Amino acid sequence: MSLVFPHTFVPWFRSVAPYIHAYRGKTFVVGLAGEAIAAGKLNAFVQDLAILHAMGIKLVLVHGFRPQVNEQLEAKGQVSRYAHGIRITDAVALDCAQEAAGQLRFEIEAAFSQGLPNTPMANATVRVVSGNFLTARPVGIVDGVDFMLSGLVRRVDGAAIRRAIDIGALVLLSPFGFSPTGEAFNLTMEDVATATAIALQADKLVFLTEVPGIREKPDDADSDIDTELALADARRLLAAMAPPQQPSDPAFYLQHCVKACEGGVERSHILPFAADGALLLEVFTHDGIGTMVVDEKLESLREASSDDVGGILQLIEPFERDGTLVRRERAEIERDIATYTVIEHDGIIFGCAALYPYPEARTAEMAALTISPQVQGQGDGERILKRIEQRARAAGLDSIFVLTTRTMHWFIKRGFAQVDPDWLPEARKRKYNWDRRSQVLVKKFV
Ligand SMILES: CC(C)(COP(=O)(O)OP(=O)(O)OC[C@H]1O[C@@H](n2cnc3c(N)ncnc32)[C@H](O)[C@@H]1OP(=O)(O)O)[C@@H](O)C(=O)NCCC(=O)NCCS
Repeated sequence: MSLVFPHTFVPWFRSVAPYIHAYRGKTFVVGLAGEAIAAGKLNAFVQDLAILHAMGIKLVLVHGFRPQVNEQLEAKGQVSRYAHGIRITDAVALDCAQEAAGQLRFEIEAAFSQGLPNTPMANATVRVVSGNFLTARPVGIVDGVDFMLSGLVRRVDGAAIRRAIDIGALVLLSPFGFSPTGEAFNLTMEDVATATAIALQADKLVFLTEVPGIREKPDDADSDIDTELALADARRLLAAMAPPQQPSDPAFYLQHCVKACEGGVERSHILPFAADGALLLEVFTHDGIGTMVVDEKLESLREASSDDVGGILQLIEPFERDGTLVRRERAEIERDIATYTVIEHDGIIFGCAALYPYPEARTAEMAALTISPQVQGQGDGERILKRIEQRARAAGLDSIFVLTTRTMHWFIKRGFAQVDPDWLPEARKRKYNWDRRSQVLVKKFV
């Protein structure tokens, strides 16, 4: 018996298509906590990365290694010491870190080299490139604590990393850097990933971590995970959180996300590695699974530009096919693009509506109102309607109207009233399709 059900597989696969189109050629920097590798998640994670790679996403992977270094230290009878979320690295700890990094790189390269038939890695060819891309400086003495051989990123050779990812390689970075005198410093995975994402002006920075995301109320472990945080809200939340002492504190990740956003990385994510396929869920579904910090400059409700034509066509096409909306050609949408308002989330268009004014009748038609089926029922339809109303009022109009065959009740609930098609402005009446027998609904502002 076949396990593939065309009636679920095909719509599901198509629902992913907008993301595949949107992310081809984009750059993601992914930070993988050493805890994920210790928990046996490496192979599944590498398989997911290989899928992203196959879709044309350019990848930099930064691995962490805290539990592995701790283990080595323990074997030598030493204890791990942290302050401000950063390890205090003495000469023994640095030795342990070098050993752990060597071992992990070996395991990661091995995982990317698998290709057994009938596994997700069959036919995958991901070439892993590593190198001395980072320069470091010492953390120094902070609040009386000498961090010794712990370092911070001083410079990332973004141009060299860019060359490697542009030819299709995956760049693998360990949390090590060298000073100009050749001295090695132990860095944090989070610092390396953040500095690299900023240097590359990456499209996404993603942390796979032991925390499930950022909670709406950080000190209430039962409160919901915030799936999306505007940069300003993230800053406010961070200021209200206790300063991180341990690397596993959510504030430690959040501060790096905020820094990345401030440095020009539009979106950064904190995801739980405990959830299988967390990376795929976050990238290919609307709400994702962890927390995304997004630069609020990218307002989700905005007027459309010519770059949005493809997204709008993709959104409305299924509704044209089933007759809910009248068909519009690409050329028509291109010509009228300035009349559209869209809702965008993470680079994908999820909603749209157009406003066609008839100034002589002091009214305007709202057309092609569509919200993607994936996100209907969350108030986006209402948000877009409000924006269209604002635009009509700003243009000095007295009302807006819609023509609909199936959505009458939605509009009536929102203050529209049915009128006779004769009410329509003359120019619109001439185009009215009497066969379609659309109902005309008007919302008056006064
Ligand atoms: C109509 C539409 C834009 C609403 O978008 P949305 O984001 O789901 O709307 P909201 O979240 O603001 O409102 C959801 C409410 O509308 C109701 N609703 C959705 N479609 C409806 C319809 N065709 N008729 C009546 N009510 C409808 C939902 O049941 C929900 O009700 P509830 O709040 O009582 O649970 C969306 O369903 C859509 O794109 N439909 C297909 C295209 C279409 O019909 N466009 C209008 C062409 S004129």
